[in-house]
Amino acid sequence: MALRSLTAADAPAVRRIYGKASVRFLGRGSMTGREAQEYVARVQRWHLADPVEQYVLGVDIGCDLVGVVKLGCRPGRHGRVSYVLREGCWGRGYATEAVRELVGFASTTAGLVSLGARHHPDNAPSGRVLAKAGFTRIGARGGMIEYSLLIDR
Ligand SMILES: CC(C)(COP(=O)(O)OP(=O)(O)OC[C@H]1O[C@@H](n2cnc3c(N)ncnc32)[C@H](O)[C@@H]1OP(=O)(O)O)[C@@H](O)C(=O)NCCC(=O)NCCS
Repeated sequence: MALRSLTAADAPAVRRIYGKASVRFLGRGSMTGREAQEYVARVQRWHLADPVEQYVLGVDIGCDLVGVVKLGCRPGRHGRVSYVLREGCWGRGYATEAVRELVGFASTTAGLVSLGARHHPDNAPSGRVLAKAGFTRIGARGGMIEYSLLIDR
């Protein structure tokens, strides 16, 4: 598994990642081909900003882009983490591995000291991913379960 930057050629894979089953708890519809192209272009622009406020990295398994992880950088060196994997690739530990890798990226490349994440109460697998990646459940807010992680530097 490797986290890597997205290129324009990844747009079809990104569209497949944001398919119907994957967006169930994301508060959005599945992605069209055009939306995927625009999204990848937007991500590339975000990565050119100084400082970068939003990272989106592809989860690459043997040259197959199976998911994306996001890291939003907030004031106070705090970050927000989220992740989406393509249906059909679930249950193989990929999200856990990707989030663990993203925590390292948040600490080194992004220079963050704390992370937060949240998931819908019915999305138990997402909670397992966060727990296995070292996050602690801190409560519920706005109908979502909240997690945090202090990065050990
Ligand atoms: C949530 C998601 C990222 C998990 O990805 P994944 O690669 O399958 O995750 P992992 O394989 O690393 O771990 C999944 C964990 O959830 C568990 N799990 C899977 N299905 C489950 C279910 N129906 N109920 C409870 N736990 C479940 C797995 O057993 C595993 O835990 P374990 O190792 O203790 O057995 C993936 O399902 C996904 O992309 N969903 C759509 C987008 C989404 O919901 N993103 C999160 C938004 S907060």
